Amino acid sequence: MRRAPATALPGPEPTERRDWQTLKSLFPFIWAYKGRVIFALGCLLAAKGANVSVPLIFKQLIDGLSLTTAQAFIVVPAALLLAYGVLRFSTSLFTELREIVFARVTQQAVREISLRVFRHLHALSLRFHLERQTGGLTRDIERGTRSIGSLISYTLYSILPTLVEIGLVIGILLVQYDAVFALITLATLTIYIVFTILVTNWRTALRRQANELDSAANARAIDSLLNFETVKYFNNEEFEARRYDEQLQKWIRAQLANQYSLSALNVGQAAVIAVGVTAMMWQAADRVASGEMTIGDIVLVNAFLIQLYIPLNFLGVLYREIRQALTDIERMFGLMHQHREIADAPDARALPAGPASVRFEHVSFAYDAKRPILFDVAFDIPAGSTVAVVGQSGSGKSTLARLLYRFYDVQGGAIRVNGHDIRQLTQDSLRGAIGIVPQDTVLFNDTLFYTIQYGRPDASRAEVEAVARAAQLEGFIAQLPEGYDTRVGERGLKLSGGEKQRVAIARALLKNPAILIFDEATSALDSKTEKAIQAQIERAAEGRTALVIAHRLSTIMDADEIIVLDAGRIVERGRHAALLASGGAYAQMWLLQQQEAEAQHAPAPAPLAGVAAPRGA
Ligand SMILES: Nc1ncnc2c1ncn2[C@@H]1O[C@H](COP(=O)(O)OP(=O)(O)O)[C@@H](O)[C@H]1O
Ligand SMILES: [Mg+2]
Repeated sequence: MRRAPATALPGPEPTERRDWQTLKSLFPFIWAYKGRVIFALGCLLAAKGANVSVPLIFKQLIDGLSLTTAQAFIVVPAALLLAYGVLRFSTSLFTELREIVFARVTQQAVREISLRVFRHLHALSLRFHLERQTGGLTRDIERGTRSIGSLISYTLYSILPTLVEIGLVIGILLVQYDAVFALITLATLTIYIVFTILVTNWRTALRRQANELDSAANARAIDSLLNFETVKYFNNEEFEARRYDEQLQKWIRAQLANQYSLSALNVGQAAVIAVGVTAMMWQAADRVASGEMTIGDIVLVNAFLIQLYIPLNFLGVLYREIRQALTDIERMFGLMHQHREIADAPDARALPAGPASVRFEHVSFAYDAKRPILFDVAFDIPAGSTVAVVGQSGSGKSTLARLLYRFYDVQGGAIRVNGHDIRQLTQDSLRGAIGIVPQDTVLFNDTLFYTIQYGRPDASRAEVEAVARAAQLEGFIAQLPEGYDTRVGERGLKLSGGEKQRVAIARALLKNPAILIFDEATSALDSKTEKAIQAQIERAAEGRTALVIAHRLSTIMDADEIIVLDAGRIVERGRHAALLASGGAYAQMWLLQQQEAEAQHAPAPAPLAGVAAPRGA
């Protein structure tokens, strides 16, 4: 038995590894623009190089000013001042250049990933979509794509530049001064970063708790107000207020904890920096005193440190945002890893165009293994002929259509088109050969013209009008003030059931397929329109292979074979006349419908017997 494997859920992986995986999946989309990425990185290095050079120049300037020679006083500072100005400006220039060049990479990555997810969602099975809430899906995509932008900007515009700057500063300190300066800087930064991450992780939990309590208090207030009457009936206003207040008090505790933890984080960070800076200054002062370093050096070291720590102020927030962005992106990529239940076989072949025969070979099927729906269903529809399926609601008729369209794979037996098992055909060619008028038609919220043309987007206006005529839509459209440009409303709600069905018929006809499936296509029509359309359906089905699932038996009298389905099994089959003659289930259904029809068409109840009849003779 072919069973679809359960949707793969990511196992309990450590978050760091998952984050790493997410970054790895993101990388190719960005690396696709190698040139721009490399250029942007070049700009980043240039900007940071300029930024780090500013204190260096500043040191020269101060050391120059400390000289007393009049000549040096004029020449040295003038050149240095100019360099100082140019460097300050280049920092901004290269930063903006980098953003301009990189913006395109980010947008393209977002576009490509969105498109890929969208395509993938359309490739997933009907089962997946029936089980998922569309709202949740679109939210996941929206958050995921938005997070790509923030992740890139946080890492590329904040974290990476800071790391580069740290590297440069430590390099300069190592080359120019005693190793102890580099060591102190490195130690301070390491402690600072580790401290920030640890505290932020703890604070994230606190914040989440505060948010949850906030929603809980809200929910309680709303629930209480919705039950306004009940509260009054039992004089429970005080009781309700107390319950609300309990929630509020919890919320206050959480809010305070949140505030305290933020202060703790800030104080802790400041303490680490203070200790680091003091240690540096102490070392530097010591060396200035002994003549190893100049005043300029001490200014330089101090400037380096201040410059490094400013961006680190936001590290806590950045860290939290990056984690959130990674989670959102991972969720979206998770959709991409959703396994395709119905996929083309590796050696799938395209169904050649032309007439097609359909054969159900001992098909059994269940949506859910615990509840079989079809049992050993077998029938043939030779090319060009029509088979009708009738049966009670829930007997599995629409399921036959869904299986032929390969929304699901059968579990036993096979469905063949022109002798090919449909699992060996490409979905594209199979579905291209089939036109369906579904039981419930859902339409895009667009114009009538667009909605019909959707059957074959390259169809001409004349072709669309021709199928509209065939589906008896002409009269209806003619009386609309906006004609073909009338919008059909969300999901087609502005059309009546019968109008929607006719639109569905028109667009299936427009697709012009070898196989047509009508799934109770005329059930919402009154019998007069149904008769009119019936002729069109028969004409459309002429020369095509048709599977007609019928509600009213009068519409399928001429079918080449009629199959009576009951609880997933074929209980009778044959032509109309033969089935009637055999007096089985079909004959009974027929009788019932004839009676109903007569009851409907009969004039108002006959006058009381005897009153109107002439007495005597
Ligand atoms: N996606 C689904 N998941 C589970 N059960 C389904 C699904 N679609 C239909 N069913 C069940 O399968 C049975 C046959 O459905 P269907 O083929 O639509 O019947 P009908 O003969 O009225 O067209 C019904 O009992 C229905 O509840
Ligand atoms: Mg049905």
